[in-house]
Amino acid sequence: MTQKNWQSLIKVVVFFICLTPFGLLSFDAFNNNLGANPIETLHFRLGDWALRFLCICLSMTPIKIITKWNWPIRYRRLFGLYSFFYAAMHFLVYIALDLSFSWEQFVDEIPKSPYIIIGLFTFSILLMLALTSTKSAQRRLKKNWKRLHRLVYLAGVTAVIPEQMPVFNRRGTTAGTLQVTLQNGSGQRTVQMNRIGRVSES
Ligand code: HEM
Repeated sequence: MTQKNWQSLIKVVVFFICLTPFGLLSFDAFNNNLGANPIETLHFRLGDWALRFLCICLSMTPIKIITKWNWPIRYRRLFGLYSFFYAAMHFLVYIALDLSFSWEQFVDEIPKSPYIIIGLFTFSILLMLALTSTKSAQRRLKKNWKRLHRLVYLAGVTAVIPEQMPVFNRRGTTAGTLQVTLQNGSGQRTVQMNRIGRVSES
């Protein structure tokens, strides 16, 4: 097998690996395994994956610079497109399952929720980058392509805001965490449940 064939094969493997979280989420959804609030869990987990893929995409250039390997650059576009895909699914779950396609309610919610304002802003950048990610767009936009695609760094900053926005959390608890402290004879035990239902004890 030639080097080019190997590269294509690895790209196909990476493509399917990136789809795994979506497959696992769909599996959990069909098996009623998404906890007490399945729509919220689905929504958050898709948002988390959009953010993860954006971080992976952004890490490709520093990896290339540090290691002097060229392969990370070949996967940058794939990871960026996956970030867009998971963000689109995150939005779709919100609009379809949370708001039952009520665009009126969506427009109503925009000024009330910084999550939506920042999410829409980030999503617009990802959409623009996805639409101009082809070789022909690169040729057409020439120097402006590079300028436009620098917006990915801005998206990287705005995409982490929803994770870091406890003050604006609609549930009104710190970082959306429910915390219960139990007192018994042998001391105190704190049980925490985060927004997606993960329970931890300390
Ligand atoms: C398309 C427009 C978008 C809308 C309308 C939207 C809306 C929302 C809403 C309503 C929440 C939940 C806030 C809460 O009640 O706690 C949320 C959370 C979140 N969003 Fe978005 N979002 C959008 C785009 C994005 C994009 C592009 C990303 C990342 C690339 C993203 C990443 C996240 C993350 C990481 C969370 C927190 C999930 C968690 O707490 O585990 N969102 N979004």
